[in-house]
Amino acid sequence: MADVDWDALRVTAAEAMRRAYAPYSDFPVGAAAIVDDGRVVSGCNVENASYGVGLCAECSLVSQLTMTGGGKLVAFTCVDGKGDVLMPCGRCRQLLYEHSAEGMVLETVSGIKTIDEVLPDAFGPRQLEEFRNG
Ligand code: THU
Repeated sequence: MADVDWDALRVTAAEAMRRAYAPYSDFPVGAAAIVDDGRVVSGCNVENASYGVGLCAECSLVSQLTMTGGGKLVAFTCVDGKGDVLMPCGRCRQLLYEHSAEGMVLETVSGIKTIDEVLPDAFGPRQLEEFRNG
């Protein structure tokens, strides 16, 4: 894995966090990631009066990934309203897994970890492919 400037990536995540729409939880979140072509994508949480419809920052990031040309994520970080590293929720680990490059690394509350470490034995596109191929 190439060197990652985690401080710079966290600054981008914090900038995204300041755009969060989180009037219900008052818990703004920002996420940022490096794509395998060198792009940087980011996102913030976007809540809704119908609480369950709210979008995590990772949803916004993955939408930006797709809208700006796709690719695979190689490094990811996420921050809370204080700018402290935040662990992606379970659903968002799955979301990130779908778009992860082999060996994708995440900045976590317990250090740098790979996507396989934060989502062991993941269900993903391969299982669907294997079933399809009998
Ligand atoms: N949230 C995220 O945006 N990402 C996560 O990984 C954890 C939770 C948001 C969802 C909700 O808007 C707020 O944090 C409180 O749960």
